[in-house]
Amino acid sequence: MTDFETILVEKGEGYGIITLNRPKALNALNLQVLKDVTTAAAELDADDSVSAIILTGAERAFAAGADIKEMQSLDFATAYKADWFAGWNRLGEVRKPIIAAVNGFALGGGCELAMMCDILLASTKAKFGQPEINLGVLPGMGGSQRLTRAIGKAKAMDLCLTGRMMDAEEAERSGLVARIVEHDELLDDAKKVAALIATKSQVASAMVKEAVNVAFETTLDQGLKYERRLFHASLATDDQKEGMAAFVEKRAPQFTHS
Ligand code: CAA
Repeated sequence: MTDFETILVEKGEGYGIITLNRPKALNALNLQVLKDVTTAAAELDADDSVSAIILTGAERAFAAGADIKEMQSLDFATAYKADWFAGWNRLGEVRKPIIAAVNGFALGGGCELAMMCDILLASTKAKFGQPEINLGVLPGMGGSQRLTRAIGKAKAMDLCLTGRMMDAEEAERSGLVARIVEHDELLDDAKKVAALIATKSQVASAMVKEAVNVAFETTLDQGLKYERRLFHASLATDDQKEGMAAFVEKRAPQFTHS
């Protein structure tokens, strides 16, 4: 695994953990973090021993947004030519499920990063928001789009126009997070979810991820057809044969991820 400047990477039984590690800057997302996170995620994605990836933050933040100090002197031409923030799309290319374990502030780019993940777990101390309006800008890593799809126009407008923070309870009520976990148990809980996913077929879980994400991109009719075609394709896998045989034989399946 590559050495990283701004993140910590470790591996558990069947999963990898990426920890954003710039706590003095509340894990603000600068270009180096983008490079490190997307590189580590791609490496874990390519690692056959990894079935899921956990993304979390060191100390009191998940991430307090894109790095304001890095953007302060950014001008239009530079940002436009570099297509600033587009590099985060690399995270969307990861085929394995990514669990965001949101341990504290998830603001601006931090909230947007969490929303790029597949399962969001919030600690009781998590705080979500899109405070870009306070800086005279707007979300740039997907906030106006993913937040609106996740929690609807009313709340997305409320958050993006006022810049206010939403606590874990409100985030769960709004459907932004899957569930809330006691702060001290967050990482253990995320590991349990990752370990559970690791007992499944990697092929099937990649198909699930692909199919659910298609729901954001297409009509219901096209999405249903897409899902059916993937279901048909799943019948061509060894893991389908093993999964169904194990059910009939009343034993645990031994998936080979093929
Ligand atoms: N960028 C750079 N540095 C940041 C940062 C950010 N987004 N957020 C916090 N920091 C730094 C602070 O500058 C401070 O550094 P110094 O000690 O060197 O001064 C350190 O982290 C600790 O922060 P605070 O002293 O502000 O801590 P606090 O507990 O008083 O407040 C906070 C916490 C409410 C999260 C506050 O830090 C804050 O409002 N941060 C900015 C949040 C924000 O506006 N995020 C959106 C950024 S723009 C964006 O993300 C665009 C996009 O859509 C991609």
